[in-house]
Amino acid sequence: MFFTLLTLVIICLVTWLFVKWRRVKNYWADRGVPHYPHHPIVGSLTFLQRENPAVWMRKVYNDFKTPYVGMWAFWRPGLVINCPDLARRVLVKDHEVFRNRFLSSGKTDPVGALNLFTVNDPTWSYLRRRLTVLFTAARLRSLQNLIKAKSNDLVLRIKDEMKNENHADLRVLCSDYTTDVIGEAAFGLSSESVRTGDSTMRRVTREFTKFGLHRGLCWSSIFFFPELVDMFRFSLFPKDTLEFLRQVIHKVIEQRGGYDKEVKESRDLLDALLKIKQEAAAEKEDLDQDFLLAQAAIFLLGGFDTSGVTLTWTIYELAWNPHCQEKLYQEVLAAKQKIGDEDFDTNTLAELTYIDCVFKEALRKFPSMGWLDRIASKEYKIDENLTIPEGTVVYVNAVGMQQDPKHFPEPHVYNPDRFLPENERDITPYTFMPFGEGPRGCIGKRFAYQTLRYGLASIILNYEIRALPNTPKPNDVHIEKNGLFLGPDKKLSVEFRHRE
Ligand code: HEM
Repeated sequence: MFFTLLTLVIICLVTWLFVKWRRVKNYWADRGVPHYPHHPIVGSLTFLQRENPAVWMRKVYNDFKTPYVGMWAFWRPGLVINCPDLARRVLVKDHEVFRNRFLSSGKTDPVGALNLFTVNDPTWSYLRRRLTVLFTAARLRSLQNLIKAKSNDLVLRIKDEMKNENHADLRVLCSDYTTDVIGEAAFGLSSESVRTGDSTMRRVTREFTKFGLHRGLCWSSIFFFPELVDMFRFSLFPKDTLEFLRQVIHKVIEQRGGYDKEVKESRDLLDALLKIKQEAAAEKEDLDQDFLLAQAAIFLLGGFDTSGVTLTWTIYELAWNPHCQEKLYQEVLAAKQKIGDEDFDTNTLAELTYIDCVFKEALRKFPSMGWLDRIASKEYKIDENLTIPEGTVVYVNAVGMQQDPKHFPEPHVYNPDRFLPENERDITPYTFMPFGEGPRGCIGKRFAYQTLRYGLASIILNYEIRALPNTPKPNDVHIEKNGLFLGPDKKLSVEFRHRE
């Protein structure tokens, strides 16, 4: 009797699974949407840990060349958006429907549950409104002394590196710089990674970018199978790192007079965050204990590698494109001659034109995040032929559009002139989105540009950057396979030759 019952249950279960699987497998075919075949377990995610997701997105774009393509995150149907008009609707016009990201971090992880990047509405709207003031031009100006000091350290560090080895690991160098800038601004803890090549903060950021089996599983689940995150208690940050950062914040705030001491003038992002918490308390809104930690941590995590990788690619491209480098040098030199012995201030740097073009072109070719994810909060009509149900994941394929010759002729050529003001206006809107778009776009964009400008201006004034023999051209550099950002797979090096 027992075995008959068991057999019956197993048969029912297998039949149910089979029927469900067939429905999933035929999902896009039934709707006439182009797609790759469905893998019985991982859906379209066969590339995970084998190919960078941005490289996969580029492949999808080139293989189909259709406005959208069906895919599956495991068994959950998703839609890859390949055209600017749909991108605009999802990210901006119909943002109300697509306010949330699909990716999610666990509820058991305070940083995951509370930070701006992963939270859902209504918490997201509330946080975003409060946090936007952190990145106004005036607030960022208060960080300029810190960034200036770090960019001077960067120049000295390069000098040391050139003495020792004659070439430097660019990603390490640039991430040391961005860790110091963002780490110090967000946590208020002095960080000497650029000067010394190491610091407690740098040990934290290094930990983020290690993609061992466990971290790889955490990241893949957070981005593509959030249901697993709570089940396996995965977290955005390694647990011990989080504990360390919690203690850092607590100690620094105590040193500054405690959580209740009124912040009159904010020196850095941490002061500004504390001020938000105090203002919220005055309005009888209680922001959780870990509110400061969650935001500071996501600024560091969201900022150090994206900015570091962008600076890396920019320097590398400039080494291989000496005519662009010379144009940049002339622009920065002319600005320096105007201010004489003074240091650059944020306004002077922001007024330069070409320096932003060199970053934008590096970001066009190598956007750190190649895609922008959202989830539909209700049924949504894509076009006459397709309506997606609530809960469908949508991936805007930024990297695909940024490298389409239709939008950017000769996309493999590094040509910063595309972004000169007189040319930029011809770029089709929503085909260039390295910082995302719309209300959920990158909140740290201005901060990132400010950090990048200081770093590169200091380097270019002091050094000529040269490509080394036997190193790959930028287009031949292999992309990191198991990382999420579009970073180089191996060490990238150049020669920095001191300018007389
Ligand atoms: C070159 C550097 C950077 C790049 C390329 C970059 C790129 C991005 C992208 C593509 C997004 C998603 C936007 C979307 O979905 O529409 C994003 C979101 C975000 N970024 Fe950045 N980012 C950079 C630097 C920074 C910095 C320096 C910080 C903080 C100090 C930061 C903090 C954030 C946060 C908190 C979000 C989530 C915003 C929200 O959901 O409301 N990023 N970034």
